[in-house]
Amino acid sequence: MAGRIVVLVSGSGSNMEALARACERGDVPGEVVAVAADRSCAGIDIAARRGIGTIVLDPKQFEDRDKWSRTLRDRILDHAPEIVVSAGFMRILAPVFVDAFPGRLINLHPSLLPAFPGAYAVRDALHAGVRVTGTTVHFVDHLVDHGPIILQEAVPVDSQDTEQTLHERIKAVEHVMLPRACRLLLEGRVRIVEGRVLLSPG
Ligand code: GRF
Repeated sequence: MAGRIVVLVSGSGSNMEALARACERGDVPGEVVAVAADRSCAGIDIAARRGIGTIVLDPKQFEDRDKWSRTLRDRILDHAPEIVVSAGFMRILAPVFVDAFPGRLINLHPSLLPAFPGAYAVRDALHAGVRVTGTTVHFVDHLVDHGPIILQEAVPVDSQDTEQTLHERIKAVEHVMLPRACRLLLEGRVRIVEGRVLLSPG
């Protein structure tokens, strides 16, 4: 049976779409059953067009952040996901959310963590003048852009790069890496041992 995947987005949702396609092709033994966002965005439109369930919860419509976090958590739990993927979700996930998905909540971040955490990872890498940056998929813990690393891929920086051109190349790599990470998880090949990820051969 296909592993149930919920994806959190805030923007263009290209990684969510790449993952949904990989599932449909059979490259990932899963199905994107819902897409959740903190705002109306292209990612939600893509999900709706694909017939995927959508959840939009704007924190501004809630009394406080805690109520928003709990509601988002409960709406996602309704979908009984095996994996929850944060892919371009521009909110910090509170412990009350994170603790509901032990070993099942992963984040995609456009740098080689622990370098360049935060919302401007691609810009920060360019400003730092690094020759190589990349992307990371990791389990989410209580710190921002932190937790056991599942996969990383390097992306060289060109001298001509702008934030946009570099991010586009990073995303092209992410579109392959994220489905691969989900496949590893759904095949039960990912274990956390003493805070580090061990991958079993297929
Ligand atoms: C990705 O680069 C991801 O690493 C970062 O935000 C971007 C989301 O892009 N967290 P998209 O919405 O999947 O196109």
